[in-house]
Amino acid sequence: MALLIKNIKKLVQIEYGHKEKVCGKEMSEIQTLDDAWLKIDDGKIAAFGRMRDIDAMKEGNETRLLDASGRMVFPSYVDSHTHLVYPASREIEYVDKIKGLSYQEIARRGGGILNSAKKIQEISEEELFESAMERLEEIIRYGTGAVEIKSGYGLTAESELKMLRVIRKLKDSSPLAIKATFLGAHSIPMEYRNNQTAYVDLVIHEMLPRVADEGLADYIDVFCDQGFFTVEDTAKILEAGLRYGLRGKIHANELDFSGGIQTGVKYNALSVDHLEYTGDAEINALLNSETMPTILPGAAFFLNMPYAPARKMIDSGLPVALASDFNPGSSPSGNMQLIVSMASILYKMLPEEAIMASTLNSAYAMGLSDQLGSIAVGKKANVFITTPIPAYEYMPYYYGTNKVETVILNGEVV
Ligand code: NIG
Ligand code: FE
Repeated sequence: MALLIKNIKKLVQIEYGHKEKVCGKEMSEIQTLDDAWLKIDDGKIAAFGRMRDIDAMKEGNETRLLDASGRMVFPSYVDSHTHLVYPASREIEYVDKIKGLSYQEIARRGGGILNSAKKIQEISEEELFESAMERLEEIIRYGTGAVEIKSGYGLTAESELKMLRVIRKLKDSSPLAIKATFLGAHSIPMEYRNNQTAYVDLVIHEMLPRVADEGLADYIDVFCDQGFFTVEDTAKILEAGLRYGLRGKIHANELDFSGGIQTGVKYNALSVDHLEYTGDAEINALLNSETMPTILPGAAFFLNMPYAPARKMIDSGLPVALASDFNPGSSPSGNMQLIVSMASILYKMLPEEAIMASTLNSAYAMGLSDQLGSIAVGKKANVFITTPIPAYEYMPYYYGTNKVETVILNGEVV
């Protein structure tokens, strides 16, 4: 059935032609339409226009009507980096962090990612699926319409495959657009601590062929950072991924100037994510590349880390995407409204830039910007209607509450 939303106070982030991403100054040039209508048909955006011109639009008998008086309509958020399939929360480590332990110290003691990897052995695929489904339902209510989900809490072939099968089941069961990323190289298991190369070989020669054989992943990821995987490990894994048709989306420069950004660009990664340690050399490497720099404010906030230089990146002409990094260790929230607020407050991104970064540019970072990330005719109808708000700047300004009232995914109110 077709759906017509009428009396929209402002239709935000509309496009008349498709752009795959926006860079630099263009990021602040979002387009809007006041006093608008939006027609959705067959799960797609069919048309939009001003209320004063609505007579030209044929409603049809089958059309369901929604009145959005006083409310705005946005394209759904696209969250291009999460680890939301996980076995258990880690609030005890969070207390250790408050007491002064660093993320790396916790990791060295076998906590952190290894803690989750131990627990995943003990939990059934069904339980993993059910808990992840609940998290998906939560992020839907906060306005997310597409999400990338990584493996990486398995760290053995069996457990990595288990996680990826759960993600495949989520793809089949949820109305969200979902992409799966194989992150076997998330941490080095204790038994490989003196032989990291052997673990990298396991990822490349045992895990990857099986992941590819079952068609379980869309992308491949490596945590390329101090104390985790080296530039050499990362290059080998990205090269192997490309042989199986998997592009990289890597964790880079969260803990140091690791060389991860340059390595990602060299292997044409779709995105490099985190980027707390980004200087001129990294910015220059990213300029004119096809790699989307992706900032994860939730992780920097939660771990009290330096903030990635988003302002400098945008002012240098780069595109920037935003994602939640939803995971139990460094960012236990998938609330993209909060991420957009953090981007404005902590990173000095203008509300327009933060909207662009959390919709079109993050859709690019998931390989989906031809289908999602803006209100454009022909794109998938994943949009939300806000509560009554005075202006779109109010979204990041009035932080901490849910301002999404009605969610529409694939053209259906959910
Ligand atoms: O993106 N930085 C590496 N990995 C995750 C954290 C995973 C965890 O601590 O469970 C991140 O922050
Ligand atoms: Fe992450």
